[in-house]
This record gives sequence, structure tokens and C-alpha cells, in this order.
Amino acid sequence: MDSATLRIGVLGSGSGSNMQSVLDAVLAGTLDAKICVVLSDVADAKILDRARDHGIPAQWLDCAPYKTKLDGEAERACVRVLNSHGVDTVVLAGFMRIVKPGLLAAFPNRVLNIHPALLPAFPGIAAWKQALDYGAKAAGCTVHFVDEGTDTGPIIIQKAVPVLEGDTPETLHARIQVQEHLAYPEALRLLSEGRLRVDGRRVIIAGC
Ligand code: GRF
Repeated sequence: MDSATLRIGVLGSGSGSNMQSVLDAVLAGTLDAKICVVLSDVADAKILDRARDHGIPAQWLDCAPYKTKLDGEAERACVRVLNSHGVDTVVLAGFMRIVKPGLLAAFPNRVLNIHPALLPAFPGIAAWKQALDYGAKAAGCTVHFVDEGTDTGPIIIQKAVPVLEGDTPETLHARIQVQEHLAYPEALRLLSEGRLRVDGRRVIIAGC
């Protein structure tokens, strides 16, 4: 694949600090990309305000009747909106729903997620708390391509942090988020430079 300006659509449910880190990299000129649209299943999510503050089209996506997945008409509407903005890369940034085959088929090998754990350890919800409760000595984050499983897709980048004595879920998550904000722009930069190739479970990074 050749290098190209990514046309990113972001899906998120919360604060949007990861979206912000990607946007900051774009604005700093260190990531060849444009965030074309931001969608959220939560009408008053901060991620929508962050996008609007920067003049990025941002809209609520009604995902009813489903509570935990993006499916049916909501999925079709999502794909329509992403396509209408010319999106070629979908960035899940704290999107609290399982994405289904319809979205993945519309953007093959172009849907990325960031997960707050060193996968395959601790998939699912509140992974930093899972790591803490388990007694892990290291935690971290993973940027991966999304497949039909939950947090199971081919891994692009991982960054580790120590779990420290006295950590709370909040302090550990904050330490992980510092690394997330480096990892997502880094992974997207590799994608924009045409350096990622998926070979089964493995992501081959050219030039590494
Ligand atoms: C991050 O920890 C991310 O790994 C997880 O959800 C959180 C989203 O945070 N998937 P933010 O909305 O990007 O601040």
C-alpha cells in the first residue's frame, strides 16, 4: 500500500482524549490525516464537543434498540455517514459497543481500536481495573485492527506501564492513557505511511 492522507472517522462514547491525541498529531503535522467526522452513541459525550470545538462535523448516532452493539439500521446509518464524509479509516476511541460484520465489511482492515491493556490479557470492560485486581505487575495499551471478536484483532502497537504499589484504578488508567495518547497517533502514522500489512494474526511493519 502506498502512503496516503488518511480520511478518518472516529467513533467514541466518552471523553475523547484519544481522539484529541490524534487530532493534535494532525494539527502538529506529524500525522498525515484528516478527521472527517466524529460519531457518538452518547448524545452529550465530551468527544462530540471536542470535535465541534475544532470545526469537525460531529453527530449523535441513535443505536437503539441495541445497548451493547452497533447493529441493524444504526450500523447502516453509521456506514452511510462515514461514506458521505469520504472516510477510509475508522478509529474506535472509547466506543463502548461491539462493532459487527457490516461495518467491518465496509472498511476491510481499516477499523482500528485502542484497548487499555496488553492484549490478549484483560479484554473487555475496565481492563485497567482487571489488571489491578489480578495483581499484574505490568499493564498498558494495545492498538489493533478490529475483527469480529472482542479485542481480538491483529495487534499493531503495544505500550507497557508498571503497576505501582498503591495504584488505584484511576491512577493506573491515567498512566495507561499517557501511553495511549502516544500509541494511537503512532499506529495511524504507520498506516498512513503504508507500512502495515496484515498477514493472518500478524501485522508486519515495513522498515522495522
Ligand atoms: C481508553 O482508555 C481506551 O483505551 C478505551 O476507552 C478509553 C477511552 O478514553 N477503549 P477517551 O474517551 O479516549 O478519553
